[in-house]
Amino acid sequence: MTTLTLALSKGRIFDETVPLLEAAGLAPLEDPERSRKLVIGTRNRNVALLIVRASDVPTYVEHGGEGLYQPLDLEIGRCRMVVATRRGFDWTGSVQRGGRVRVATKYVRIAREHFAAKGMHVDLIKLYGSMELAPLTGLADAIVDLVDTGNTLKANKLKAVEDILAVSSRLIVNPASLKLKRAALAPLIEALAKASARGGS
Ligand code: PRP
Repeated sequence: MTTLTLALSKGRIFDETVPLLEAAGLAPLEDPERSRKLVIGTRNRNVALLIVRASDVPTYVEHGGEGLYQPLDLEIGRCRMVVATRRGFDWTGSVQRGGRVRVATKYVRIAREHFAAKGMHVDLIKLYGSMELAPLTGLADAIVDLVDTGNTLKANKLKAVEDILAVSSRLIVNPASLKLKRAALAPLIEALAKASARGGS
């Protein structure tokens, strides 16, 4: 029997993924927030979950193959990637003056591409979390971060000054696995697609 492994992270995205997994017959047998186990079984004995850091998911999925196939927008974890500054900061003026601005972010590649497309010179500062602190402490003029409700920006007296892109969670698959395990994977992808369509309607 073909075995399948799904990598996902704990937290917000996991909570939103559980209903999709349940609808696809893959309800987790344990709660990763309570268990220290990193490999968790599901209702389907041929499918297991790996609990990894969100940013490590692509590394695990790509292992043993090359590239990533993205067959499905799960339509969960919806948010926006934005540029934000302190409320009083004159972002438009700084940009117009063409001076170098310092931008802190966890999402260096997206930030680099965004500012390069606008022909802006920015000094990017890589951070791993709590980016909202960077403009408050003077480490950076702006941040590139995810915004959902806007509460975090508000609580830290920041404002969004540019919209970069809309974000949602995607299902990604190792292309070699897709070839070798197509018979087992295709129904799973279809079940998740159906479940996410139901959630969105
Ligand atoms: C994300 C993001 C913001 C916050 C935005 O952080 O980096 O800090 O959520 O959400 P809001 O607009 O609803 O307030 P998350 O809590 O996912 O943790 P992270 O800092 O580890 O990315």
